Amino acid sequence: MNDNSKKMNNNDFQNIVSVADRLGGVEEYYFSKKLRQIDEMNKAGKNVINLGIGSPDLPPHPDVIKTLAEEAEKPNQHGYQNYKGSPVLRNAISKWYQKWYDVSLNPDTEILPLIGSKEGIMHICMTYINPGDIVLIPNPGYPTYQSAAKIAGANVQAFTLKKENNWCPDFEELERLDLGKVKLMFVNYPQMPTGQLPTNEMFSQLISFAKKHNILICHDNPYSFILNDKPMSLLKFEGAKEVVIELNSFSKSHNMAGWRVGMLCGAKERIEEVLRFKSNMDSGMFLPLQLAAAKALELGQEWYDSVNAVYRKRREKVFELLNLLNCSFDKGQAGLFVWAAIPCEYKDGFELTDKVLNDSNVFITPGGIFGNAGDNYVRVSLCATEEKLDEAINRIKKN
Ligand SMILES: Cc1ncc(COP(=O)(O)O)c(C=O)c1O
Repeated sequence: MNDNSKKMNNNDFQNIVSVADRLGGVEEYYFSKKLRQIDEMNKAGKNVINLGIGSPDLPPHPDVIKTLAEEAEKPNQHGYQNYKGSPVLRNAISKWYQKWYDVSLNPDTEILPLIGSKEGIMHICMTYINPGDIVLIPNPGYPTYQSAAKIAGANVQAFTLKKENNWCPDFEELERLDLGKVKLMFVNYPQMPTGQLPTNEMFSQLISFAKKHNILICHDNPYSFILNDKPMSLLKFEGAKEVVIELNSFSKSHNMAGWRVGMLCGAKERIEEVLRFKSNMDSGMFLPLQLAAAKALELGQEWYDSVNAVYRKRREKVFELLNLLNCSFDKGQAGLFVWAAIPCEYKDGFELTDKVLNDSNVFITPGGIFGNAGDNYVRVSLCATEEKLDEAINRIKKN
């Protein structure tokens, strides 16, 4: 037995065994820690307004909830489910991709329903990464790409997205890296946290880059319907299925974050590879939930318009809040947040957000948690009512 595996950790109390080395480079998720602090503040009567997290506060469409309830009442819907998801859901995903993204996917072979796209990120890393392989991740970007890659044993190489380059990858800079050990690259447009939309040119360049260097690209696409009239899939582009897999999610587009439903789309071979890992990790989702999710995908333009009408109004309030803090921002961002540059009197976004939290009991996210390229930024969520946003504005005005 390895000595290390027996070693005791000496924290506040003695653990029976030490945690695995793979957790060495990974800390508890920022929001998980921050929510504890906010909880403490609330217990002390502070009533913190949380504008940090992108968890839609509005419910799914009533027909979706009705389907879940009706299906759950049936006696024969409660058993284990197919590892590859219900054919009803896979067909609905296939039709949805065709209708909104103009992408053809074979529902039997090119679609894998997931328990949220976050778990898909982990499955993908566990499926493809050997210790020492390099994974390219965006800076700033969703922190889970980095942590999942590290847990799987990867060396992570960040590529910086810059405002002057419209938060797109700088392909000249990427070409200068030693790409020999790069196996996987995460990209995400509309980009979180910057709200940047993709362009045709950038998507085509990504595919050429991946082909040239034999890199698998994972495009994470949960925000394409939020404050964006033209949802785009990277799979639409010439030759994409050879090098691209795409994650998508019901969390943001259908107000179903707590339901945990997402999907992976790509070539048959990639779906089979990821399923080899996933089918050993978990089992198919609760059938009524899958049937309700399929219902959600049948919703028409009116659904997306109604969701976006709410976010558009809230966004005006968030602009007002950010103006009060002397932050500057682009008004054409997509997704559930507004990304804004802080004024120069603050060292970084952490200093500004701590001040706003302590002085005004309003929590906004420091951009630095998405990588150091976000250090001089903050991110404000649109997942709060106009009344809450007005209250946050009033509190900030008073300080
Ligand atoms: C860029 C990005 N990808 C993936 C996710 C995870 O979404 P899901 O709820 O589908 O796991 C999030 C959630 O905040 C996100 O911002």
